[in-house]
Amino acid sequence: MGRREKPIDTRSGPVGAFAGDLRKLRAAAGNPSYRQMASAALYSPSVLSDAAGGHRLPTLPVALAFARACGGDPQEWEQRWREARGGGAPTEPLTPIGVDEMAAAEPGQPRPAQLPIGPHDFVGRMAEFDGARAAMVGIADSRVPVIVRGPVGIGKTTFALRFAHQLTAEFPDGQLFADMATRRADDTAPLEVITGFLHALGVPPDQVPDDDMHRIGLYRSMLAERRVIVLLDNVKDEPQVRPLLARSLNSQIVVTSRSRLLGLDGVRRITLGPLSRVESIDLLRLLIGSDRVRAEHAAGLRIAEFCGHLPLALTIAGRKIAAQPGRRLSEIAGRLADGVNVSNWLRIGDISLADVVLPAYLALPPLAKHVLHMLAGGADEVTPTTLARALHISIESAEYAMDSLIDGGLLHRVSTPDRYLMSPLIGQLVTQEADRFAIRRDQDQLHTDQLRAAIGFTEGGFTH
Ligand SMILES: Nc1ncnc2c1ncn2[C@@H]1O[C@H](COP(=O)(O)OP(=O)(O)O)[C@@H](O)[C@H]1O
Ligand SMILES: [Mg+2]
Repeated sequence: MGRREKPIDTRSGPVGAFAGDLRKLRAAAGNPSYRQMASAALYSPSVLSDAAGGHRLPTLPVALAFARACGGDPQEWEQRWREARGGGAPTEPLTPIGVDEMAAAEPGQPRPAQLPIGPHDFVGRMAEFDGARAAMVGIADSRVPVIVRGPVGIGKTTFALRFAHQLTAEFPDGQLFADMATRRADDTAPLEVITGFLHALGVPPDQVPDDDMHRIGLYRSMLAERRVIVLLDNVKDEPQVRPLLARSLNSQIVVTSRSRLLGLDGVRRITLGPLSRVESIDLLRLLIGSDRVRAEHAAGLRIAEFCGHLPLALTIAGRKIAAQPGRRLSEIAGRLADGVNVSNWLRIGDISLADVVLPAYLALPPLAKHVLHMLAGGADEVTPTTLARALHISIESAEYAMDSLIDGGLLHRVSTPDRYLMSPLIGQLVTQEADRFAIRRDQDQLHTDQLRAAIGFTEGGFTH
């Protein structure tokens, strides 16, 4: 049951009446809490409660999300919203950046709908959704590309898909999607993607310019004219995405990447971290079943801790446990505490933690690999300074190693800027898999001088 709300000011006219109607709808739905509604509506509890506050008319997407979360008919509520707005009510801009209204798509124009569906079970990230919405707002109503970044398996793709689906009503001319991980790692990749997007937007193949600049220009012009959302998933580096970026009044670009893509201008970044304890338990509950998790809450938490609150690990663990209905969570938690092979345990169907972590590890430069082994040995939070001191290397070299680990998706930021942590789960995985990947364990024991030689360190920095 939700908290009691303040009565609506009866002088607030159609806006107050609309808020009153929203409250009635919520009451008829059994008064779900705003937190419960938020997980269905994808807006934060405060945005939803504000919608029924009666102070101002909510935006149409918020009003529809509220109605949907309480089982209301979207068409009926859109009609009511338009009536309330027509009554001369002061309105908030429809989106944080002020689209006039959710206009219908142009008739006769192709309307691509390329977004894959995301996972059904979704938890948390409310603050990040609000952050991403705020990040979209540029100068003079332009829309800024938003980069969703964070370590491997943290939920970047899932978040970006959810966010893009949440925005589809505001971008009626369609959704474009490209998984950049499946593309060649050279500069033909963005141009090929642009060609595909132009076709999807209705440009006949013989009218796609051969010249790179013209092709990019046509794509950007179309984004300026149409209202589309573009999701570029798993971007590796800046050159892979730069030609695809545009600042447009009408279209929104969302990028996911392990890398911070610090070379890009004019973008905003949202960083995802591990789930909170409550969110991890919520996810396990969705995957395993509320009863089982409620009955053994402490064991559930121990399993979540083992997973480092990493959504990918939690998802695999949850599905695995769900497939073993007879086993007690405390027995599973006990086994994990005794030590398991992480690569074998966190694997189900065709998904596996090792399959995403090990390629990220193997792509690291030698010094970064060494630092990872050092951190896997149980180091605390690190900063470039603590690392430089521990390894007797220059701060610049330490920064380089840390940047490689962060942008490779193997370190995550702790609350304070500049302090980073490696999930013990990832450390365990890489250490256990060392032999399989011919990782030299004895490197850890090397004397610093030998290590410097082994990694190509020179006094001025090091040669990579
Ligand atoms: N917020 C979330 N709620 C529930 N499950 C999630 C969430 N974020 C991620 N997941 C799950 O974790 C797995 C990894 O997420 P994904 O988005 O692929 O990570 P990334 O793109 O950062 O590598 C997905 O299969 C998804 O099911
Ligand atoms: Mg991804």
